[in-house]
Amino acid sequence: MIDRRRLLALAGSAGLGAGVGLRPGLSRASGDATDLRAAPAMARLAPSDMPETAVWAFDGLVPGPEIRVAQGARVTRRFVNDLPQPSAVHWHGLRLPNAMDGVPYLTQEAVPPGGDFLYDFAAQDAGAFWFHSHARSYEQVARGLYGLLIVEEAEPPEVDSDVTLALDDWRLGDDAQIVESFGALHDWAHAGRIGNWITANGRPEWRASARAGERLRLRLLNAANARVFDLGFQGLEGWVVALDGMPLERPERLGRLTLAPAQRADLLVDVTAAAGEEALLISFERDGAFALGALAVTAGGARRPDPGPLPPNPVPPLGDLAAARRATVRMEGGAMGRMGSAMMGGESMGPRELAAAGKVWAFNGRADMPEEPLIEAALGETVRLTLVNDTAWPHAMHLHGTHFRRLGPDGRPGPLRDVTLLARGETAEIAFVADNPGDWLVHCHMLEHAAGGMMTWLRVG
Ligand code: C2O
Ligand code: CU
Repeated sequence: MIDRRRLLALAGSAGLGAGVGLRPGLSRASGDATDLRAAPAMARLAPSDMPETAVWAFDGLVPGPEIRVAQGARVTRRFVNDLPQPSAVHWHGLRLPNAMDGVPYLTQEAVPPGGDFLYDFAAQDAGAFWFHSHARSYEQVARGLYGLLIVEEAEPPEVDSDVTLALDDWRLGDDAQIVESFGALHDWAHAGRIGNWITANGRPEWRASARAGERLRLRLLNAANARVFDLGFQGLEGWVVALDGMPLERPERLGRLTLAPAQRADLLVDVTAAAGEEALLISFERDGAFALGALAVTAGGARRPDPGPLPPNPVPPLGDLAAARRATVRMEGGAMGRMGSAMMGGESMGPRELAAAGKVWAFNGRADMPEEPLIEAALGETVRLTLVNDTAWPHAMHLHGTHFRRLGPDGRPGPLRDVTLLARGETAEIAFVADNPGDWLVHCHMLEHAAGGMMTWLRVG
């Protein structure tokens, strides 16, 4: 396995040279059917003294091309599959028509190699969203099939630059190639596929420059299969203004930030490092603190006044929680768990048989995708789901088609989210308005856990 060379010690290292500019060349979708092509490609994930890495990518890029549209505009992409496997594109966090959700066998047929599929929907909500493969995603996302979708407010907050950073966690061998251990049941039954090489926007060291005092909008995505990022900032101070694409009612002071797989955070940060210093995005990991990104700070910026909240998105308010339809998702299984037998293919199977079929987790005693939905909700109904993590591992629960609010210990609804992290043994309750008709997936976004049995669905309308 290759070395991690990005110890925090790089702070203050000389020889930055001319700062790399902020990410240029944003493609603006205009409603025409631009292609979005998934195909094998090469990417420079490792340092320049190592080979490029063979990946699977959208339009040859890791992350894929950043799609930017104005709120209310249409996103129209003809997905072309030039992969050796069937695939489909899920538009994560978008409240879109069910047929556009990109989930093989639930909302569409998988697109075969050589095939294509037209995705076309309106971007109702402004915020940071993303798209990724939703077929064998534990392999296809790990190989690089994801990108950011930014929906811009009509009146965005004033900033000096708007930067998106997709964080990823790769498992690379000494030759800088992806270790193809996607189906390893050991990973599946533990924390998922945790890698050994972390990138920001596909680079081992993401670098840019900024002026002292400037304000950046920093949009972070955790695109990793399974790693939870614990992030910190040095020389940057500011606010969290949106989570999972949805504005907070009030900006929150930025401290440490936990980003579970698939989660996003929109930050407004002021460069507090002085000219000549570096401002850093730091990842706290078991073996130390690493800089994921560095801004070379030059003189000449100006501080701005504290920001107000972003304009809210048109999400319906929760109805009466006391009268809500309720259901429970009990997570079971995994290493050190206590899953005995579970249902698969309509039959009860023991742990051995289940593991032989790659099923090491279950929701409510079901290890495969059930034929019946977890619940059928009427259109507009408020739903409460109790999520019980009866396992020894954290899980990042994701609901398709709508954002939800996690209820606090006092029963008060928290911010809108589309993924919520549950620690081992933790129970949480989420509530949402079932206002989007169709069949929607509910799963753990640790992609090996989803494939290993943590998947169910809801029917709305
Ligand atoms: Cu981001 Cu079902 O996925
Ligand atoms: Cu999980």
